[in-house]
Amino acid sequence: MSDNLPPELISEEDIQARINDLAARISTDYAGQGEVVLIGVLKGAFIFLADLSRRLTVPRSIEFIAVSSYGSGSKSGAVRLVMDVRGNIEGKHVLIVEDIVDTGNTLNYLIGILKSHGPASIKTCTLLHKAGCAEVDVEIDYVGFGIGDEWVVGYGLDYAEQNRTLPYIGNVTPTD
Ligand code: IMP
Ligand code: MG
Repeated sequence: MSDNLPPELISEEDIQARINDLAARISTDYAGQGEVVLIGVLKGAFIFLADLSRRLTVPRSIEFIAVSSYGSGSKSGAVRLVMDVRGNIEGKHVLIVEDIVDTGNTLNYLIGILKSHGPASIKTCTLLHKAGCAEVDVEIDYVGFGIGDEWVVGYGLDYAEQNRTLPYIGNVTPTD
């Protein structure tokens, strides 16, 4: 990690408080429906998924899916499936857990892939949403924070694999 820490956009305290809210809402919404399968989108959602999943009060299990956009910096490209879910999600209630939704292309692609596995339902949850950046119309059921059109790092999110383990969300100026 670089010695120059990115300036703070959302504090650790604010993130944690918001996750409590989201966990309470999700727990209420899924109460009495049996198990919800939380599908974390690697790599960025791993920390959010860890915190969110431990605060739910409904039965839950954990799966991961990995996708990548072509490129390693801040330019978005074609979405590609790197790793599908391992468990059988047919007939299950699925909640996709994302770090951030920008253009919506990744989430849209993921919904398509997961629908083909025949779940009972699919809902979506993202910690961050870049308002005004949508290229595709995709429904997001649970949003942590809306942010502007800027590149953010920390709490799982990276820029060129840097700063994923910061406890807060900061912003950086991409150089590509
Ligand atoms: P979308 O397909 O344009 O919605 O972009 C979604 C994916 O791009 C996210 O899952 C992230 O992996 C990545 N991404 C978009 N914006 C940011 C950002 O500001 N910081 C880190 N990753 C981002
Ligand atoms: Mg992601």
